[in-house]
Amino acid sequence: MRWHRSLAWLGTTALLAACGDGAGEGSAARPAAPPPAVPPALTADQSHGQQVFRAHCISCHSVDGRGLAPLGVDLTASRFVAERSDPELQGFLRRGRAPGEEGNRTGRQMPGLAGLPDVGDPEIAALVSHLRRINRSS
Ligand code: HEC
Repeated sequence: MRWHRSLAWLGTTALLAACGDGAGEGSAARPAAPPPAVPPALTADQSHGQQVFRAHCISCHSVDGRGLAPLGVDLTASRFVAERSDPELQGFLRRGRAPGEEGNRTGRQMPGLAGLPDVGDPEIAALVSHLRRINRSS
């Protein structure tokens, strides 16, 4: 008797589960919502790079990196950034580029970071992550 009752209970449960599935199909048929217009979250390195960029670079290159003419060039479209390796860009950021130097196009100084007390290797590496994120020319 006990055995029979539990079988009946199992049957009811199966029936309820089947109804549940039916409801599920109804909701799946609704049109998919458009993807949210939220940019992907920054990695810790990118977010650190963004901070250092805001502290040291935006006076010439602007917050979005497109450059404040005639002070700084557009870094979002820079082939120079796209074609250099991470160590090459780190070296460039330490040295900068003097007005008379080969490769200088504007006759203006790109100041190097070497010697700044608040900018060490982690800050320079983070800046390169930031440059990679904003550069669209690769
Ligand atoms: C005082 C203004 C100034 C500041 C501050 C400055 N830059 Fe520049 N930067 C320039 C100028 C001017 C050039 C272009 C020099 C030339 O004519 O080749 C340049 C060039 C560059 C380039 C090479 C782009 C290319 O296509 O040749 C990179 C990369 C760059 N800057 C990154 C940075 C970063 C990162 C910072 C902050 C740490 C920074 N700059 C701060 C003025 C500045």
